[in-house]
Amino acid sequence: MKVHVVPPGLWLVVWAWVGAWVRVGGVAMRVLVTGATGRLGRVAVPRLRDEGFTVRAVSRRPRDGAGVEWVVADLGTGAGLAEAVAGMDAVLHLASSPGRRTHEIDVLGTRRLAVAAGHAGVRHLVYVSIVGVDRVPLGYYRHKLAAEQVVAAGPVPWSVLRATQFPGFLADLLRGASRLGPVLGDPAVLAQPVDPGEVADRLAVLLLAGPSHRTEDFGGPEVLRFDEAARAWLAARGSRRPVVPLRIPGRLGRELRAGGLTTTATPTGVRTWADHLADTYGGTGGR
Ligand SMILES: NC(=O)c1ccc[n+]([C@@H]2O[C@H](COP(=O)([O-])OP(=O)(O)OC[C@H]3O[C@@H](n4cnc5c(N)ncnc54)[C@H](OP(=O)(O)O)[C@@H]3O)[C@@H](O)[C@H]2O)c1
Repeated sequence: MKVHVVPPGLWLVVWAWVGAWVRVGGVAMRVLVTGATGRLGRVAVPRLRDEGFTVRAVSRRPRDGAGVEWVVADLGTGAGLAEAVAGMDAVLHLASSPGRRTHEIDVLGTRRLAVAAGHAGVRHLVYVSIVGVDRVPLGYYRHKLAAEQVVAAGPVPWSVLRATQFPGFLADLLRGASRLGPVLGDPAVLAQPVDPGEVADRLAVLLLAGPSHRTEDFGGPEVLRFDEAARAWLAARGSRRPVVPLRIPGRLGRELRAGGLTTTATPTGVRTWADHLADTYGGTGGR
């Protein structure tokens, strides 16, 4: 028999919704969301809206929809940032550019955003970072760590939440690792995928709690080896491709195998990799 329990995330949503109204005396908290079109932003924007926040969403291109106000701004040049932050109570900064101009957009762009928000009198800047940025020697992570430091040194009271990998990101990684046929990867690398919706709930709570500096890391409910994650992914897609071990050398490999991308912090999310696979491909997701 399947037992249905109220997921912890739901209580957070309820609390956040109530808080959004109570905290500001019946006037919804106004939040600017950067990276609103991204993997996390696409989930966070409707959740915040539904929880009673007034959301203004940023993209580099004109957009509409999701029942929120859209504005155009570019962290890489600073264009549109002053207008974007004007009149906001808080900024939820999710935008990032891992693939290109990362220093310009993630580090200098975060500084531009923080300065603009300071001038506009924004009272809280919430930044999303990644578990392991201070441990795993990846170029992107160095930029994320630098951006965390920019936020902490900036003019706006702040919070930083480090989350583990989103399942969609892990799936993209697996797709990339299987381009040549078999899934190539270091079998002993550890990952802890976390549902972006649960991260979004956590961010809503942080927005309401006010500036909290570095907060407890947030990871998914289970730590998986790369080969386990890959096999479940292949099974969910009905693929018989093999997983071929390819050890990652040096310090990077050592940190990844030692759990540099994982956290022991609690509470964790509740949605598993298998849940993600079942949602995406149907069936049991390899359970
Ligand atoms: N992916 C993961 O597994 C993971 C795990 C933990 C934490 N995080 C962090 O969570 C945050 C969101 O990640 P994500 O995976 O949702 O990102 P994503 O899907 O790669 O989306 C990136 C977002 O950044 C915006 N952006 C890029 N360049 C910009 C610029 N120059 N100016 C303004 N906006 C710009 C894009 O907006 P437009 O294209 O609409 O302009 C897009 O909405 C990031 O800070 C990331 O480091 C990610």
